[in-house]
Amino acid sequence: MFGSTLAHPPQSGEGDGERDPWRACGLRLQSVVWLDMPAERWTAVDHYLADLLVGSDSTLEAALSANAAAGLPPIDVSPTQGRLLQLLARLKGARSILEIGTLGGYSTIWLARALPDDGRLISLELDSAYAEVARANIARAGFSELVEQRVGPPLESRQQLSAEGLRPFDLIFIDADKSTTPEYFEWALKLGRPGTLIIADNVVRRGELIDQESRDPSVRGMRTFVERLAEEPRVFATVIQTVGSKGYDGFAIALVTN
Ligand code: SAH
Ligand code: DHB
Ligand code: MG
Repeated sequence: MFGSTLAHPPQSGEGDGERDPWRACGLRLQSVVWLDMPAERWTAVDHYLADLLVGSDSTLEAALSANAAAGLPPIDVSPTQGRLLQLLARLKGARSILEIGTLGGYSTIWLARALPDDGRLISLELDSAYAEVARANIARAGFSELVEQRVGPPLESRQQLSAEGLRPFDLIFIDADKSTTPEYFEWALKLGRPGTLIIADNVVRRGELIDQESRDPSVRGMRTFVERLAEEPRVFATVIQTVGSKGYDGFAIALVTN
């Protein structure tokens, strides 16, 4: 399934052909490793880890059930990824968080759990039906006070946020339409301050990130974003590839330094 999308197959002359036993029988080592790591295994390991580290969590499970019942696409962060978001927010000592892309509020709940009682999380969502599902999930999780949902075109929300003169956000999670991620990053720089952590989801896209010829607007958006991250002197950033129940993807993590 993924073999054909391997974007950088081993070139002839790469490595030591004579000592590569796989080449002798017409196989390339990378291909063999790839085939040995099917998505089912990533998912099984994710479930094993989530069972151990997250355990059963009726609030989060209820949110996912409500999302499914309402027909939302199952594209929430995974439990282990949600835990990573919460971990980063705790490390940061975040008191104010901005999320772009609420869906059913699953990642919102993970992030809200990192906040102190007087913290604040603003989550932006384009789709009002999704936002209603999220509203119920967030209420059930006990975060109606802490979480403020804003529904509608993000540009309007952005202008509104700027006009309100809120204190800068400590953490900004970008997880909405992928082609617009470069613009959301520009907002994040404006709505943050030195010390703000910016996290973006779905950066690697099954490895398509390295496809210069891609016509996929999401891939193109992420390429522009990563190139922007690399040249932006005000952030210290990396991108980490991930595999798991959400397949092969990755997060960008950027600290605003000045
Ligand atoms: N963060 C969520 C998943 C978000 S999925 C979680 O992990 O639980 C991406 C969401 O972005 C979808 O709900 C989609 O409706 C929303 N979206 C798409 N375009 C958007 C836009 N322009 N502004 C805000 N949200 C947008
Ligand atoms: C998909 C996954 C995501 O995490 C997301 O935010 C949007 C879309 C997807 O798999 O299509
Ligand atoms: Mg995502």
